[in-house]
Amino acid sequence: MAFGWIDEQARARGRAGLVRTLRPRPADSPLLDLASNDYLGLARHPEVTEGAAEAARRWGGGATGSRLVTGTTELHDELERELAAFCGFEAALVFSSGYAANLAAITALAPHGSLIVSDAGNHASLIDGCRLARGTTQVVGHADPEAVRKALETGGGPAVVVSDTVFSVDGDAAPLSELAQVCREFGAGLVVDDAHGLGVLGDGGRGAPYAAGLAGAPHAEYPEYPEDIVVTVTLSKSLGSQGGAVLGPARVIDHLVNAARTFIFDTGLAPAATGAALAALRLLRREPERAARAREVAAELHARLTASGLEAVRPDAAVVSVRAPSPERAVRWAADCRTAGLAVGCFRPPSVPDGISRLRLTARADLTGGQLDRAVRVIGETRP
Ligand SMILES: Cc1ncc(COP(=O)(O)O)c(C=O)c1O
Repeated sequence: MAFGWIDEQARARGRAGLVRTLRPRPADSPLLDLASNDYLGLARHPEVTEGAAEAARRWGGGATGSRLVTGTTELHDELERELAAFCGFEAALVFSSGYAANLAAITALAPHGSLIVSDAGNHASLIDGCRLARGTTQVVGHADPEAVRKALETGGGPAVVVSDTVFSVDGDAAPLSELAQVCREFGAGLVVDDAHGLGVLGDGGRGAPYAAGLAGAPHAEYPEYPEDIVVTVTLSKSLGSQGGAVLGPARVIDHLVNAARTFIFDTGLAPAATGAALAALRLLRREPERAARAREVAAELHARLTASGLEAVRPDAAVVSVRAPSPERAVRWAADCRTAGLAVGCFRPPSVPDGISRLRLTARADLTGGQLDRAVRVIGETRP
């Protein structure tokens, strides 16, 4: 029977407690949300939803074509210029998702004969970028600049080092300055995914590369825009919208326009998503304290969880990860939280490289003290 083999896979998943199911979310969900990636609480902000609505009314429900044909509106151009200026990079290119942006950056910058050095904890979209690229990938230990150096020593041609800035499973940060230093020694490019840094880290949420002094002026180390660093972001987390972008030197962005298949052969980002992201970016520029607040909430959440005896990883941004004893008990724990009115994420194999299951909590900037109390109480009371 066609596809007969998938039934055996489904049974194996069931035995291992790894079945995934969809749960449609009602518009007025009563759950307290510590599961979404809406770090700044902007997805439903009236300025952001109006940005989406106004863009849809003006430009239409869809972009109508790929970016090189009819899919680039003036709105895309505005978003690209404002995003690049905000994060401290020379130019930006918007994609229909962060996933597509990562595939584009890696495949277009790692040609045949090149070396890609990839952190073992990288997000699936970076891993898939490495798999699709023509270069040869060497996976190195997590957050280990010395391992990166050793890998670069083996290469002869062009090389890129690929890393998340904040790792999505445990919320820990990459050693960006050290990675940039090693890359410079070898003349290698650095491609970092700032999906969890944008809007949370750096002055007013300008992102992890800005926080590390790796973005453009006014940082002393880079009076000019950096030539050797490329950053990918998603518009779907802190900016409360949808889509992705690559930021970097103008010549790299021009190269992507000509060579990146997920840019060339994909319909442009929908006007509503573009308008929402632009509105969120402008709001963040006006209210930079939202970024610091997300970091404060994360630190507070971690402190309270640890004080109640739970094993939580100290957060470097807004993701707080709590260890669970097994995949089955992680699923049970998340379900019990849900029954008690709290939505939490649940990460388990194969989404976690080390096989350790966790609850994944997101510290939104708009959580109140009372909501934090409630969340910690529920997580503590339902622990396995
Ligand atoms: C680190 C990281 N990179 C990329 C992505 C993909 O971004 P998008 O959802 O916009 O495709 C995600 C998650 O969604 C992520 O966590």
